[in-house]
Amino acid sequence: MAYEVKGVVARSKGAPVSIETILVPDPGPGEAVVDVAACGVCHTDLHYREGGINDDFPFLLGHEAAGTVAAVGEGVTNVAVGDFVVLNWRAVCGQCRACLKGEPQYCFATHNAAQKMTLADGTELSAALGIGAFVEKTLVHSGQCTKVDPQAPATAAGLLGCGVMAGVGAAINTGAVRRGESVAVFGCGGVGDAAIAGARLAGATTIVAVDLDDRKLEWARRFGATHTVNSSQTDAVEAIKAVTNGFGVDVAIDAVGHPKVFEQAFYARDLAGRVVLVGVPTPDMQLTLPMIELFGRGGALKSSWYGDCLPSRDFPLLVDLYLQGRFPLDDFVSETIGLDAVETAFEKMHAGDVLRSVVVF
Ligand SMILES: NC(=O)c1ccc[n+]([C@@H]2O[C@H](COP(=O)([O-])OP(=O)(O)OC[C@H]3O[C@@H](n4cnc5c(N)ncnc54)[C@H](O)[C@@H]3O)[C@@H](O)[C@H]2O)c1
Ligand SMILES: [Zn+2]
Ligand SMILES: [Zn+2]
Repeated sequence: MAYEVKGVVARSKGAPVSIETILVPDPGPGEAVVDVAACGVCHTDLHYREGGINDDFPFLLGHEAAGTVAAVGEGVTNVAVGDFVVLNWRAVCGQCRACLKGEPQYCFATHNAAQKMTLADGTELSAALGIGAFVEKTLVHSGQCTKVDPQAPATAAGLLGCGVMAGVGAAINTGAVRRGESVAVFGCGGVGDAAIAGARLAGATTIVAVDLDDRKLEWARRFGATHTVNSSQTDAVEAIKAVTNGFGVDVAIDAVGHPKVFEQAFYARDLAGRVVLVGVPTPDMQLTLPMIELFGRGGALKSSWYGDCLPSRDFPLLVDLYLQGRFPLDDFVSETIGLDAVETAFEKMHAGDVLRSVVVF
């Protein structure tokens, strides 16, 4: 018997999202149905709606969620009904060449539910990032459920499911920020501010926040930025060099995903430093850099998918730090909203009015 619930769907490229009746099948082998308690609105949901990820419309949006396991299918042993879980989009397979090399954070064959959720007329939905969680109940692979301490509110814990983990991980996993290093973060939305908080957690002593919006820069200070640069008024590269003895930062993180920003990150980095791209570019974007600079500066240019996280290791760890008052998850939640306000939340995100709007059920 399928569950009949309400969810937020992007039917076609660029069109406003709508609330639809969604049919969620009973969990099959290896699957789980989760009662979603909270789901953050991430910029990637907007990328989906705008056709920037792929053309597999209609999409069931939402992917940054926490909730309670409502039912499990045959053979599920990692979670049970009633468990408080954060949903992840990296359910590692254990068998692909990355997993076999001992690098499951790069797993190339992550698990998703085998069955599809559908519209009432049977049209199959593409679930955003293999999750789809702007919906009262969602069907996922059981490996997409990561158990965390139920003392954490779902509004905060759910953010680890995407943007906050992507940002923290870009700093501590991909960028491998160390104590005493200098870091610059370009783009201070949820992802960028999480990178700032991650850099602070790792012990960075100089953390430069760069954005076009002064409000964002003010918020960035809350998460640990020691310096701020409004790059609509100031040359970001020069400003970053000015606070790093003329050298540039050890780690430069692009949390926008734009060639101009990447170029700034590239030049704002010290010799042998690391550049981390965590913002998602659109398919039309091109990057041109002098190859001699690429060679002459040494170091590393890295991309960070989901902060190179391992959900089973990193979600419980960050929830524990949060509960101990050492990681400010609550500060990412600008507002809680109903399911009917996702489109308005996109507008607020676009206008820079929020870090995260979080749908609560
Ligand atoms: N790699 C991953 O695994 C992953 C995961 C989640 C999100 N993302 C991506 O990260 C990016 C950021 O997501 P978000 O939710 O924080 O978005 P957001 O819209 O909340 O934040 C983007 C920020 O960048 C700023 N900005 C825009 N253009 C800029 C420029 N030219 N220079 C400096 N700042 C600029 C904006 O003012 C805003 O503060 C998006 O591209 C999103 O798709 C990546
Ligand atoms: Zn794998
Ligand atoms: Zn996301």
